This record gives sequence, structure tokens and C-alpha cells, in this order.
Amino acid sequence: MLTGVQTTRMSHDELEHVFVAGASGGTGMEVLRLLGPRSPRVTALTSSPANREQLLTAGADTVVVTDLLSPEGLEADLRNVDAVISAVGSGFTDVWTADELVDGTGVQTLLSAAESAGVDAFVMESAVGVGDDPASGLATLFNLAIAPVQRAKATTERLLRESSLSHTIFRPGVLTNGPRTDSVTVADPGSKLYGTVSRADIARLLITAPITPEAANATFEVVSTPSFPERGLTIDWQLPGSTPSVASEN
Ligand SMILES: NC(=O)c1ccc[n+]([C@@H]2O[C@H](COP(=O)([O-])OP(=O)(O)OC[C@H]3O[C@@H](n4cnc5c(N)ncnc54)[C@H](OP(=O)(O)O)[C@@H]3O)[C@@H](O)[C@H]2O)c1
Repeated sequence: MLTGVQTTRMSHDELEHVFVAGASGGTGMEVLRLLGPRSPRVTALTSSPANREQLLTAGADTVVVTDLLSPEGLEADLRNVDAVISAVGSGFTDVWTADELVDGTGVQTLLSAAESAGVDAFVMESAVGVGDDPASGLATLFNLAIAPVQRAKATTERLLRESSLSHTIFRPGVLTNGPRTDSVTVADPGSKLYGTVSRADIARLLITAPITPEAANATFEVVSTPSFPERGLTIDWQLPGSTPSVASEN
């Protein structure tokens, strides 16, 4: 474990225990499949005990069952965790009816517990349009269609930036269940990206962020199709367990 406020990233070897929230979801399952064989220890969080076996089969070593809107023992579950990946999200029916959204209160509780437990890095899956940066038409549509979720995510993003956790926030466009391409445009906030990206491609970014120096305390917009080579950043996203290279991509 590293100590103090982190401005640099862990090495591959230091990323020993990863905690995945939202593990049973579309992105979360892709995270488990990719991370399971590469990380010495993976803990998956779900609110439903019925998901336990599926999560173990997909790549988790341990499953924590708790509802992030009323969690029990979360701080203890996060002890000795090096990085938290949050891929949780509200169900469609919750958006306009729920008093509290997991994107807000739920993830905020998780990040607060992670801070108290001494976790080093926190990686959050957000969405294009979250926050006050200049936005694309797609992002504006998100902000109209699921306004409560976008507002909740904006508050969570802010609290994460204000926390002592080394963090990375990804704001993807529309998610698809397509294959991992490793061909994505990752750009600064306000780049006005629009389009789609597969959950598998987002999973790779979520996993690599804690060990990628350029991702420390950064927020990125991400899409795959269309690509925006002129707006993309050149970052070498190295999966845990892979050999460092000089290769880079947008
Ligand atoms: N859909 C899109 O086009 C799109 C675009 C941009 C960004 N995003 C964002 O990307 C993220 C991932 O989306 P996705 O579609 O891959 O996920 P998803 O399939 O909707 O899965 C969401 C996960 O959140 C977990 N969850 C919900 N409420 C919970 C609670 N109270 N306590 C604990 N866990 C809870 C669920 O786990 P359990 O049921 O096991 O508890 C589920 O695994 C979300 O934040 C979403 O807003 C989505």
C-alpha cells in the first residue's frame, strides 16, 4: 500500500488487490473477465446475493454483498485494497423515482469508506455531459433524458476530486456490448466527444488507470466510434501484468 495523498501511480506489482463495485453490470463483468487472470486479488461488490456465483466464475476471488445505499461494514471490506473501480449505475426506473441514486449517495459512500480505509486509487465510470464543461449534442441529450443521474454523478465527481484519493474519472459516450478494440479516443473534459464505445474498451481503461501516470487525478471523455484523432490524448494504457512498451494510441 502507498501512503499519503497520491500524485503518482502504483507500479504493476503494487496493484495487488482491486475492489470492483457494480461488478454484475455490463461494464463490471467486462472488468472482472479482464482483471481476474491479471490481478492477484479481486473483490466484487453486488447488492444481490443471487449474483455471487456468477461473479466468482467471471473472475472475482471474493464477493461482498451490500447495498451501497445502505451498506454495512464497507470500510472493513476495503482494508488492504489498493484500487477501487466503480462501475455502478442506477437502473432506468430509478432515474425519476428514487429518493437517492447509487450514482450519488451510493458512490459517495464508497469513496468515503475507501478514503477511511486507506485505499490508494479510485476509478469512476461517469458519463459524457456530467459537469459544466462544454458538451456535445449527445451529452446535452444525456443531461435532459437522465438529468437526476447526471447531477448526482457531477456531485460525486467533485467530491472525488476533493478527496485525498488518487483518482481517475472516465466519461464515456453511449455504451455498447461490442468487443474490445483497444482503439478509443480519450480526451480532456470539454472536448465535446460524441458517439459510442464498448463496455469492454471502457473496462480496459478502468483497469489500467491506477498504474497509468497520465491518468493520475485526471478526467477524460471517451468514445470509440466515431474516432476523434485530432482531439485525442496520446497515452500508453498498460494492462496489469503486461510488459511495458513504448506503444501509444488515441
Ligand atoms: N448506458 C450507457 O449508454 C452509459 C453511457 C455512459 C455512462 N454510463 C454509465 O456507465 C456505468 C456502467 O453502466 P453499465 O450499463 O455497464 O452498468 P449496468 O449494467 O447498468 O450495471 C450497474 C451496476 O450497478 C450496481 N448497482 C446498482 N445499484 C446498486 C446499489 N444500490 N448498491 C450496489 N450496487 C448497485 C448493479 O449491481 P447489483 O445489481 O449486482 O447490485 C449493477 O451491477 C454507469 O455509471 C452508467 O451510468 C452508461
